[in-house]
Amino acid sequence: MRPQCARFWYRERARFWYRERMTLRPSGGAQLTQLKNADVSWGAFDPKAYVKHNYRALQSEDAEILDVVRDHFADHFRRPGVGPVRGIDVGAGANLYPALAMLPWCDELTLFERSPANVRYLKRQVDSYDENWDQFWDVLCEDEAYDSLAMDPRKKFAKTVDVELGDIFDLQRHEGRWSVGTMFFVAESMTNSHREFALGVERFMRALAPGAPFAAAFMEHSKGYHVGDYFFPACDVGESEVRASLEPFADEFIAKRLKSSAAVRNGYTGMIVAYGRRR
Ligand SMILES: C[S@@+](CC[C@H](N)C(=O)[O-])C[C@H]1O[C@@H](n2cnc3c(N)ncnc32)[C@H](O)[C@@H]1O
Repeated sequence: MRPQCARFWYRERARFWYRERMTLRPSGGAQLTQLKNADVSWGAFDPKAYVKHNYRALQSEDAEILDVVRDHFADHFRRPGVGPVRGIDVGAGANLYPALAMLPWCDELTLFERSPANVRYLKRQVDSYDENWDQFWDVLCEDEAYDSLAMDPRKKFAKTVDVELGDIFDLQRHEGRWSVGTMFFVAESMTNSHREFALGVERFMRALAPGAPFAAAFMEHSKGYHVGDYFFPACDVGESEVRASLEPFADEFIAKRLKSSAAVRNGYTGMIVAYGRRR
């Protein structure tokens, strides 16, 4: 057998193993012993199902996160002599609102994502994003920095955003490259390993330049999640693990549980939002 064929069959077998293990898993069951980021078939992530479940209508949790992140970025960039800057949303998936929250101040905005299916979704959104994202933009417009944007947000998004297929663990090649950053539901929602969770936070933080404002969101005590027919792993973290992961890389930051509770999502106990500045 040619090496290429051997690789093909190996990949097929791995895919079969993954499908068997992941699709049939009952929701809320016991966590698999170890499911690392590289074990997961991220190409199976269904952006259409994900958006339909999470972002078709604005949930109170996202509205609360938007309030916090909007005020944090607006306060930072109101200071004289800051911006325009280069921004990054790590593990953007099928969520545009972290990017929208950085939009007014960016002249380049990278949506960095590992799943080819999500990359295709994001690329389709660049020229003119779907209407469901308008309700998220409306919350941001409660601050005049967003409301008084000189350009239509869709035009600014199309002009500024670039979608990049990549792995968070490879970000070490780009230390300090971005001057504002977000990472929502990624470090704890891509593995069930605590080591990989902490390393994910580290890679995100190190990609930011000193002083860069950041915002990150985390599912609290998540047991993993379904997107369409597939199950994806999560790392069980609470406020203390989130704080400990950020502390070495941030000077002043806040990490707090949201007051809002889940309407459509399940399998976790709450959400944590963290924001501050890169050390
Ligand atoms: C729960 S989703 C969060 C998506 C989005 N940020 C949001 O707020 O809804 C987790 C995302 O992390 C991405 N991801 C998983 N492993 C990754 C990696 N190694 N590097 C970059 N992104 C990754 C997944 O493809 C998926 O889009």
